[in-house]
Amino acid sequence: MRKKVTVVGGGFVGATAAQRIADAGLADVVLTDILEGVPAGKGLDMLEAMPILHSDSHVTGISTATGDYGPTAGSDIVVITAGFARKPGMSRDDLVKANFGVVKEVAEKVAKLSPEAILIVVTNPLDVMAQTAFRASGFSKHRVVGMAGVLDSARMRAFIAMETGVSVENIHAFVLGGHGDDMVPLPRYSTVAGIPLPDLLPRETIEAIVARTRKGGGEIVNLLKTGSAYYAPSAAVYEMTDAILRDRKKILPCAAFLEGEYGIKNLYMGVPVLLGAAGVEKIIEVKLGAEEKAALDKSAASVREMVDLLGI
Ligand code: 2OP
Repeated sequence: MRKKVTVVGGGFVGATAAQRIADAGLADVVLTDILEGVPAGKGLDMLEAMPILHSDSHVTGISTATGDYGPTAGSDIVVITAGFARKPGMSRDDLVKANFGVVKEVAEKVAKLSPEAILIVVTNPLDVMAQTAFRASGFSKHRVVGMAGVLDSARMRAFIAMETGVSVENIHAFVLGGHGDDMVPLPRYSTVAGIPLPDLLPRETIEAIVARTRKGGGEIVNLLKTGSAYYAPSAAVYEMTDAILRDRKKILPCAAFLEGEYGIKNLYMGVPVLLGAAGVEKIIEVKLGAEEKAALDKSAASVREMVDLLGI
């Protein structure tokens, strides 16, 4: 049977994610937005590209201005991108209250219509919004996952490739923690053809890569001025969707609900997970040094602060 993916939020991230999924023929796609006309127009435009792209994906766009999510019913995956984007000078964390209401309402509604779905949360502040969707949907922790680590580690991989001149395919990067400025890139677990970064690059270069990775989202916001990144975020959504729908059992860094793993409890945080048909099938724990653990705890503390503020 054909798979069905709903993408909630037809802005740049949502629409580009929908496009990547449809172009690859991975699933039929329903793109929703609160605007009138725009989602239907984008959906139809994508659908009309399918004959050229050899894809049989069916794409529709619907407006949820009236609160009706009916056409999303029976989705295998719901990607939640709805919410306000960051503006220059605004931290991801500034968004917390504004986006809480949006994600809560969306999660409640889509959970009723697609009770078997897996939710991929993209709205910022990412870890907190994943926790919001988890609580609001009532789904098990395995079926609510946040997209951020795939994006952050893709950025780190790109920077390592730029520095070493080696193909991105040879490069693996490892980023833990919340999707914020204190995320925890781990050079020791980041490799070029299996060779750990500290064996290849001088310390200052690694430090510069780590710093640029942490500020990767902000770097794009400052360049775009009127919006935030969407090509890499949508590619990250695509990779997670593909891992789930094709049951690929990929180990990817994602925000998952921790219940003692890494010494952290009752909190969504970026950790390596095994992603397959059941969603987050396993959380992979790696050994951390004292400094790495302290950095992870610091990142957890900033996520926890917002979670406590919202009482979720
Ligand atoms: C990013 O990292 C805005 O969180 C988004 O690009």
